[in-house]
Amino acid sequence: MDLIAALEDIVPQLADGLERATRPEELEALRVDVLGRKGRIARIMSCLPELEPGARPAVGQTANSVKERCNELFEARKAVLEAAREAEALRRFDPSMPGRAPWRGSLHPTTLVTEEICRVFQGLGFDVASGPEAETDHYNFASLNMPPEHPARDMQDTLYITDSVLMRTHTSPVQVRAMLASRPPLAVIAPGKVYRRDSDLTHTPMFHQIEGLLVGDGVSMAHLRGTLTAFVHAVFGAETRVRFRPSFFPFTEPSAEADISCCICGGQGQIDGTGCRVCKGTGWVEILGCGMVDPAVFEAVGYPADVSGFAFGMGVERVAMLKYGIGDLRMFFENDTRFLGQFGA
Ligand code: PHE
Repeated sequence: MDLIAALEDIVPQLADGLERATRPEELEALRVDVLGRKGRIARIMSCLPELEPGARPAVGQTANSVKERCNELFEARKAVLEAAREAEALRRFDPSMPGRAPWRGSLHPTTLVTEEICRVFQGLGFDVASGPEAETDHYNFASLNMPPEHPARDMQDTLYITDSVLMRTHTSPVQVRAMLASRPPLAVIAPGKVYRRDSDLTHTPMFHQIEGLLVGDGVSMAHLRGTLTAFVHAVFGAETRVRFRPSFFPFTEPSAEADISCCICGGQGQIDGTGCRVCKGTGWVEILGCGMVDPAVFEAVGYPADVSGFAFGMGVERVAMLKYGIGDLRMFFENDTRFLGQFGA
């Protein structure tokens, strides 16, 4: 058999095969078939020892030349196929297709309202303070005039971690921490999460409060009323009315609760003849607890007996519900973007 002719035959046959190949796997199969260790060229070369020694160099040279030409054919075909793939990708890319607008996040209404309230009080000269969410019994209760056996410590309401460490049930412990950290006069506002063992339509185990405390010389209930009225007007609008009702908190004396005229019905108690659901027809809604700091609290932090001060605490979700007319507390915790996206940035 003529080995040289057999070798030369490979080139046009490969050219044919490559012409029909379109996928990279097909190219690779052809390459193995021709140039592989057990491919056609290798098989032909394995017959070399049977030739006369004098005839061998010519066959070897032909084999090298055939290999070279085969490689060139592969490279050429590969380049053609790659160019075709790129052209196809470009053909599928439609530059006139409208772009997809990126998702844009927005601040949670709880965050928005917290920031707004803090801004108002900062404008009145208050500093922003914070304290730990896991508190000791001492800061959450004892120093706030709630000694052991006080009903507010009841396991029913408080999430205890150990006998003396608990999840704070209000932001009032920050009052105590702020007073221990400086001397009067001081004015602080303290936003944060609070926890209670409570979960139904209108209560969640975690919610947000903002605490306020102002201590100085001759601070009176009039200052408390003036400050809180300024806050209500700034957040709910100047037409909103404020009223104070007597109440009780262990850490303030006297204590009060502040109501504002209902922003849903404009304080009318009804909308088009039907009773307003938000204020239950009364025209007023409660928004915070407040009072003059109890002397027992000043004593707990070692303040002189002649200082006076006021304190208040409000629920952030409650303020947000009234401000935006949100009817369901659960909305704040479900993270439905259709709800959250309505509050802008
Ligand atoms: N800590 C009280 C509460 O959680 C609110 C409050 C704060 C009342 C400060 C008076 C003074 O209900």
